[in-house]
Amino acid sequence: MAKLAVNNVNVRGKRVLVRVDYNVPLEEKDGQTVITDATRIVETLPTLRLLSERGAKIILASHLGRPKGKRDPSMSLRPIASKLADLLGRPVAFVDDCIGEKVEKTVDIMQPGDILLLENLRFYPEEENNERGFAEKLAKIADVYVNDAFGAAHRAHASTEGAARVLAARGAPCAAGLLMERELKFLGAELEHPTKPFLVILGGAKVSDKIQVIDRLLEKADAILIGGAMAYTFRLAQGLKTGKSLVEADKAEVAKAALAKAKARGVKFLLPLDDVVAIPSKTDQLDKKGRPVIDYQNVHVNNDANCPDEAAGLDIGPATIKAYSEEIAKAKTILWNGPMGLFEDSRFAKGTNEIARAVAGVTQSNGAKSIIGGGDSVKALNKAKLGDKVTFMSTGGGASLEFLEGKELPGVAALSDVQT
Ligand code: 3PG
Ligand code: MG
Repeated sequence: MAKLAVNNVNVRGKRVLVRVDYNVPLEEKDGQTVITDATRIVETLPTLRLLSERGAKIILASHLGRPKGKRDPSMSLRPIASKLADLLGRPVAFVDDCIGEKVEKTVDIMQPGDILLLENLRFYPEEENNERGFAEKLAKIADVYVNDAFGAAHRAHASTEGAARVLAARGAPCAAGLLMERELKFLGAELEHPTKPFLVILGGAKVSDKIQVIDRLLEKADAILIGGAMAYTFRLAQGLKTGKSLVEADKAEVAKAALAKAKARGVKFLLPLDDVVAIPSKTDQLDKKGRPVIDYQNVHVNNDANCPDEAAGLDIGPATIKAYSEEIAKAKTILWNGPMGLFEDSRFAKGTNEIARAVAGVTQSNGAKSIIGGGDSVKALNKAKLGDKVTFMSTGGGASLEFLEGKELPGVAALSDVQT
């Protein structure tokens, strides 16, 4: 069963509650709040333009950060309203609450085409607890519900799930926004029947984050390329030495099972041939999360599948870049999720950047479809200024992973079904 699309809903003069994911990265600069990446806002503009042209009264609701049910001025959505107004080139109203009298009064005087942004939903604990009463208060000001917040669709919260259920019970249409539709198309339908060869590139720190995706994609992929620290858990599973590299020793069996499944299914499963290693040492400095900053010395290429005892592997090496790039050049469909190394440090960014270049290259020159599963791989592509050279970049992090695992997302499940 397909989900109702916003394009097929009559919204003229209606109050449309649009759940967006404006959980964007913020930074304080000279006493000003600056949005460091506005992609999630920009990607909702097509839905907002469509609704506005059709005369809807647009009420936007989002969370920002994790304020844990308390008002926290540093997580206010007010700066997002000004950014949105800049991007749209028109006014966007803002109310410093998301339910209650103030909101209702503002909605009462809205004209068709007007846009209002509500304050952070997570200032109320009822949002994450998906409390019925709170969902009803959100639903009270709406005739139609639209979900364009793919990035938050894996959460069964009041605004992503509860309010849609309340409105649906009242007979109101609950539709997917244009961004939501694109996300479901590229991460869903397109990968269901991919043009072959279908290549999957997975990186990042942990096998445990990706194992369910690996397991599911082993059913579909022709080849899987592994990079990032998770490669060392696979090496451990093969009985190799991993030195001081990040490993999940308790996941070695899981990794072994994945290798066996790949072999049984005839899926090419490539692990790094060489890597860039360095000697790690803790410094006195603390990072944002209060953990000691690690300093890396003696950065060099290691050609041995075993990692030296005193070293940690931090990027794929040149032979791996070459072998992976050759695989990428043959692919017709590519799914990429997770960096190949510690790319935030330029000494360990080459693997991720070269893979980004190869993926963008085959998309441009060979008509391959490249789908980037969100999070750090999107960050890396944007950093390399290659974001517009791939077919699709997801705005979801956790949501894209859960969706790729084959899970039903509560925010999608709550939308109205339509016959296809
Ligand atoms: C995200 O950025 O992952 C989404 O906005 C969801 O946020 P959350 O992980 O805090 O629920
Ligand atoms: Mg998250």
